[in-house]
Amino acid sequence: MKITKSKVITVTSVKGGVGKTTFVLALAAQYKMQDKKVLIIDMDLFSGDIETLLNKESKKDIYILFEDILNNNFYDVESYITNYDDNIDFIAAPKDPRYASKVNGNFLNLLISRVGTKYDVILIDTNHFLNEVNLVTFDNSNEIVYLMNNNCTNLKNMRTMISILSDMHMENYKIVLYEAKDKRKNTFKKFDIKSMIKDNINYIINQNFYIKDIDKFIIDDKMLSILTKYIKNTNSKLFDKIARDLIK
Ligand SMILES: Nc1ncnc2c1ncn2[C@@H]1O[C@H](COP(=O)(O)OP(=O)(O)O)[C@@H](O)[C@H]1O
Ligand SMILES: [Mg+2]
Repeated sequence: MKITKSKVITVTSVKGGVGKTTFVLALAAQYKMQDKKVLIIDMDLFSGDIETLLNKESKKDIYILFEDILNNNFYDVESYITNYDDNIDFIAAPKDPRYASKVNGNFLNLLISRVGTKYDVILIDTNHFLNEVNLVTFDNSNEIVYLMNNNCTNLKNMRTMISILSDMHMENYKIVLYEAKDKRKNTFKKFDIKSMIKDNINYIINQNFYIKDIDKFIIDDKMLSILTKYIKNTNSKLFDKIARDLIK
């Protein structure tokens, strides 16, 4: 039996819609290539997309899990985990967003301790809010990934976030920059970005990773395979390095 504890990696951002959920699935695809077992926990509680992008009906969602823990009704962790394939399982966000605000992050510790020996990696998808739930999620993470785009609003908010992280003495984060699909929209050079946000950019994913008509692949249940193909064809060494660095 495996006794190693899984690494918990949370993907977040300072603005919405930067590509977090897609990146979580790309990381899952990369870990699958490295033959790791992955659990994805969808903590984007109001509009979790993992279930949709994997195009797989989930079992009991995270709200039910939370309620069951509160009511001392939490026995079989497997009943909340939906199997996607041999390497990837997930726990879905609340199906009904009205329940999202009832969930707080305090159950995560227990959940992780229950599943921690079964997975090499636990990937947590979030939204970009600096709220209680996300702060507790960060507390439970080995590494936090900030995903950002190359534009003024992302840079400004990232700069603010870095000073907050520094106030909180948090150092376990990495910054990933997505290049825009249109080269002309990559307004700032790496050097400028570094001086603007006052921190290092750890990884830059180049524009070839932009997948045309990505939604078609979701409907055909091909999200994981198209991400795997694009990783291999465009950013293979980089994704391999990111995945390895995050679980070091
Ligand atoms: N590599 C990519 N290629 C093409 N479209 C992408 C890519 N990554 C994200 N997108 C698209 O950008 C939008 C936002 O991505 P998403 O992963 O949902 O971001 P977030 O989780 O940060 O809100 C979605 O429509 C998604 O399909
Ligand atoms: Mg998302």
